[in-house]
Amino acid sequence: MPNLLKASSLLSPIAKRLEGKVAVITGGASGIGEATAKHFVQHGAKVIIADIQNPVVSSTSTESISFVHCDVSNERDVGHAVDTAIAKHGKLDIMLSNAGISGKLDPTIKSLDYRDLKRVFDVNVFGAFYCAKHAARAMIPNKKGSIVFTASAVSAICALAPHPYTVSKHAVVGLAKNLCVELGKDGIRVNCVSPYAVNTTIVRNAMGMKKEEVDELFC
Ligand SMILES: NC(=O)c1ccc[n+]([C@@H]2O[C@H](COP(=O)([O-])OP(=O)(O)OC[C@H]3O[C@@H](n4cnc5c(N)ncnc54)[C@H](O)[C@@H]3O)[C@@H](O)[C@H]2O)c1
Repeated sequence: MPNLLKASSLLSPIAKRLEGKVAVITGGASGIGEATAKHFVQHGAKVIIADIQNPVVSSTSTESISFVHCDVSNERDVGHAVDTAIAKHGKLDIMLSNAGISGKLDPTIKSLDYRDLKRVFDVNVFGAFYCAKHAARAMIPNKKGSIVFTASAVSAICALAPHPYTVSKHAVVGLAKNLCVELGKDGIRVNCVSPYAVNTTIVRNAMGMKKEEVDELFC
């Protein structure tokens, strides 16, 4: 028994890898962002979910998670999300720039539609810029922090995604690489996570399929 107690007291700080950290997660109300928010909290972080839709009640019911309405294509909203993290918790350690949209699903170039192209870039690319800018503003004085973008496998392979989406994710990878050089000297790490296929709303809508059907297809 004493050994077990010792083990658990040792395990706890190791398991809680984000104890004391403060994170903003854009697109945290659903899918990958929501799962990440829950995981961060399990590891001891305080999380601000910044999204255009309200998260489900169960995921905001802990003291560690709060919600701020934020359209990432609006710089003021992103600035406000970062300010909320600082006002509530005194700092920002992690920015997960994750909100993204697929845009129109017709993958052909002849169907290109200016408004769709602009919206995909406004959210996926301009949103990433605003997240990086406001995260950097909060992190540079502390000389540390971590900015993570959710890019996509389509930034590296051809997966028949619509052109605006694919190009937007290439842009995010380019932004991340450039930022590494600039912000590394301030102790800020910049990375991308590029998922392949995860059964979330964005994928179900793109495929016009139910959750169970997508599960079966992916398996
Ligand atoms: N699911 C996949 O297979 C997959 C693969 C590669 C990349 N991704 C990327 O992962 C990220 C998360 O997607 P997901 O799969 O969890 O999809 P999702 O649709 O479940 O989640 C996206 C979230 O972003 C939010 N959002 C959309 N527009 C926004 C805006 N303007 N401002 C703030 N929030 C906004 C939505 O409300 C939603 O909560 C996206 O950037 C997506 O491109 C997903």
